Amino acid sequence: MASNQDLSDGIVILDFGGQYCHLIARRVRELNVYSEILPSDATKEDVSRLSGVTNVKGIILSGSPASVRGKESLPLNPEILELGIPVLGLCYGHQLLASIHGGEVGRGKVREYGVTEVYVDEAMGVLKGLNQTEQVWMSHGDTVFKAPSGFKILAHTESCPVAAMNHDRKRLWGLQWHPEVVHTEHGREMLHNFIFNICGCQANWKPSDAVDEAIKEIQSIVGSSKAVIALSGGVDSSVAAALAGRALGDQLVAVHVDHGFMRMKESKNVAEAFKKQDLELIVIDAKDRFIKALKGVTDPEEKRKIIGEEFIRVFEDEARKVGAEFLIQGTIYPDRIESGISKNADTIKTHHNVGGLPLDMDFKKVVEPLKDLYKDEVRGLGERLGLPKELVWRQPFPGPGLAVRIMGEVTDEKLEVLRYADAVVCEEVETHAIRNDLWQYFAVLTDTKSTGVKGDERAYGWTLAIRMVESIDAMTANFTKAPWDLLEKISNRIANEIEGATRIVYDITHKPPSTIEWE
Ligand code: XMP
Repeated sequence: MASNQDLSDGIVILDFGGQYCHLIARRVRELNVYSEILPSDATKEDVSRLSGVTNVKGIILSGSPASVRGKESLPLNPEILELGIPVLGLCYGHQLLASIHGGEVGRGKVREYGVTEVYVDEAMGVLKGLNQTEQVWMSHGDTVFKAPSGFKILAHTESCPVAAMNHDRKRLWGLQWHPEVVHTEHGREMLHNFIFNICGCQANWKPSDAVDEAIKEIQSIVGSSKAVIALSGGVDSSVAAALAGRALGDQLVAVHVDHGFMRMKESKNVAEAFKKQDLELIVIDAKDRFIKALKGVTDPEEKRKIIGEEFIRVFEDEARKVGAEFLIQGTIYPDRIESGISKNADTIKTHHNVGGLPLDMDFKKVVEPLKDLYKDEVRGLGERLGLPKELVWRQPFPGPGLAVRIMGEVTDEKLEVLRYADAVVCEEVETHAIRNDLWQYFAVLTDTKSTGVKGDERAYGWTLAIRMVESIDAMTANFTKAPWDLLEKISNRIANEIEGATRIVYDITHKPPSTIEWE
């Protein structure tokens, strides 16, 4: 494709619905190369149309929840391969390149999830400069068993004979793993090789200022009207409130809804923290309304939808009172991707600020200034906006709160148990050096009771799970190998201080295959 000297070079990402599609775009941009995501069925014309925006020098095919072998497989428009620019297939993209060219793709004997050791057979092209064995992030069920003719095998694993391949003349590259995920030790180098050495991009793109852009966006949407912001007190809504406050001044009213699923003293703390900010804040006690709406509900997705809906209704009432036509929310990118925003993506869970919104909302528009950002980017923004460090670096807390950490029906009794256990976990972790390594640390109330013995008497009570994870962006997470003494202290305290608790277990699952929250 012809290059325009005035434009920066760019990479197109075709979105087959993989969880990490947006992360690929972000990684490309971090290398100062523009990136644009197009749907999986994009045509040659769709790509050419970008020539007014960027010089497209390469294409990356994302992963997908689909299988190339299934009826629901997502095809690649063949004309994309005729553009004459390099193509890199990742995971599903790799399998797709193999299948299109006559390779053999089948169900793997074992599914590979998580960090996997890969053996590099030829350290060339995308794999240039890599070691003979590399740690990479895998998340796949299908495997390329035989490379198509004309393709060279560049790497393999114990169970995956064609983990990386390329066709020199056609400039096609495939990797079974995810270089965009931080757990792939040299993922950045792999993408660097593709983008600069293979596609020949120049690192000549710079991101625009996210603060200025977000402020302009909020002002242009809200105009001279009034807006309300949902302030939970978490990192995302606090940063969104600070941004919206800058954009709108006294046209903004912040509303904190205490749905009853908050941590201990949370609502009081929020009110105190924001007293210091120049922001009008209303605190609403809506506990009764929420617990009533959840009566008898056990399905996790139903719970999330009901809470989302109630939440919006409370807001609408407040907005009406203050005369606001717009709602501002701190939804961030992983909330949207896991709620299935891309047409090919699977819904993992309906995040509170996204899929839970009813269609008949009584607002002119919902404004989500952080919708394209990951948590670490939101934190960076928070610091630039001058928010206090304790607020910016708090552990994330889900919008539906403790309700998605209580399995089965949410009741006042269960809430009381979990709220106390959560406070114990926080107290113990926050006075331990491990705190700095953790993304989140919390307790979960399982729906299982078990037998214990307390004071020589039989006790039959709740089983609580403790979860501690390390993560960079919540798209993937590792359970923490927490010190035994810390776990012991937490376990003893919960079992001793909560009458109804008889058993404490530790969650040792990574994400994937688990998610961070239990529901
Ligand atoms: P999962 O459980 O999907 O969580 O691995 C990823 C991150 O998102 C947080 N989370 C939410 N945040 N509304 C939010 O604002 C929600 O409904 C929600 N559900 C999960 C979770 O705590 C983790 O940091």
